[in-house]
Amino acid sequence: MKRIIFLLLICLFSVSAHAQKFEQLAQTPPMGWNSWNKFGCNVNEQLIRETADAIVSSGMKDAGYTYVNIDDCWHGQRDARGFIQPDAKRFPSGIKALADYIHSKGLKLGIYSDAGWKTCGGYPGSRGHEYQDALTYAEWGVDYLKYDWCNTEALNAEGAYLTMRNALYAAGRPIVFSICEWGSNKPWDWAGKIGHLWRTTGDIYNCFDCIKDHGTWKQNGVVQILDMQKGLREHAGPGHWNDPDMLEVGNGMSTSEDRAHFSMWCMLAAPLIAGNDLRSMSAETKEILTNREVIAVNQDPLGIEAFQYSAKDGVEVWFKPLKDGDWAVAFLNRSTSARKISFDWKNELVSDSLSKREARFDTTTYALRDLWTRRDAGTTARTLSAEIPPHDILMLRLKKM
Ligand code: GLA
Repeated sequence: MKRIIFLLLICLFSVSAHAQKFEQLAQTPPMGWNSWNKFGCNVNEQLIRETADAIVSSGMKDAGYTYVNIDDCWHGQRDARGFIQPDAKRFPSGIKALADYIHSKGLKLGIYSDAGWKTCGGYPGSRGHEYQDALTYAEWGVDYLKYDWCNTEALNAEGAYLTMRNALYAAGRPIVFSICEWGSNKPWDWAGKIGHLWRTTGDIYNCFDCIKDHGTWKQNGVVQILDMQKGLREHAGPGHWNDPDMLEVGNGMSTSEDRAHFSMWCMLAAPLIAGNDLRSMSAETKEILTNREVIAVNQDPLGIEAFQYSAKDGVEVWFKPLKDGDWAVAFLNRSTSARKISFDWKNELVSDSLSKREARFDTTTYALRDLWTRRDAGTTARTLSAEIPPHDILMLRLKKM
């Protein structure tokens, strides 16, 4: 009997030893770039190499961007034994050579697959080939996998993502696992043990305030996605992040809108995956993507998402608890006209039950730092007065004096 119990324990132990995700890979929200938002299916090895070069030369690497992620449509066919091959025309040197190049720049490579039979773009999915694909990615030197949810009829989401998590773990190479099932099956309830980030919504659309209706599916603008994050902050933290989708900064919105979009993704502790053409971006776009003080809010080690404190007349006020008792505060003007704000700190009581943090401006004075002008901006002893342009934001960091 003792021997049977012992064997059972060994079995249980060895199953659980394999049934894990890689820990410590995304203690702060992942930062990088992905091909989809700008290039769609137009991917090839030259684009990926040039993008890696641009991440370094633009200063994005120094600002924290690490992952260079190829999205859909890199695939060729499976070989006779079922191993996936890259499209030989788009990636003639193969993915391993690309990974070597990217690693030589001190960056990491991400790839894309799908839990179903086919990807959203109609290329071979990983269904039935999970362990084989995980092994292939590990051999190629891949560091990040975005795993989509098209063509998954009759599959159970948690089970399907669990299978790929276990396959990645068995393959042995630490790979960030990005769950992309669009929030359809409430991944925030189950994905924390499976992946490092999970999409909370359908695809972003490159607009500040609109919905793009495709009939059977919809894409959402920046503020629509923002509204869908309500009630999710308690599920995120170091190693497991809500993902409100990749950035559209530099893809055509106004500078104000790009700044507001980027700021709110930082307030939300969202993954910062740029989605523009890094080889030809404007000075304004680069300035937004590399603002280190704003990025520091996103990468704060506490990993606590902001919460909405108030919403009035088109202006939302959001607070995010930061390390050392600091706070980030954002005044987001969602309206299409300028808004004057007057915020008398000592009349506000900011209390966050999730982080158990409170800001008492009547008893404590904080120094203010404007994170976009990068200037000190007085203290909370005086009423804050400002005018915020339409679709723009005022973002401050508060430090106890
Ligand atoms: C889905 C995902 C997108 C992108 C495309 C690729 O729509 O949500 O982010 O990966 O598939 O086909």
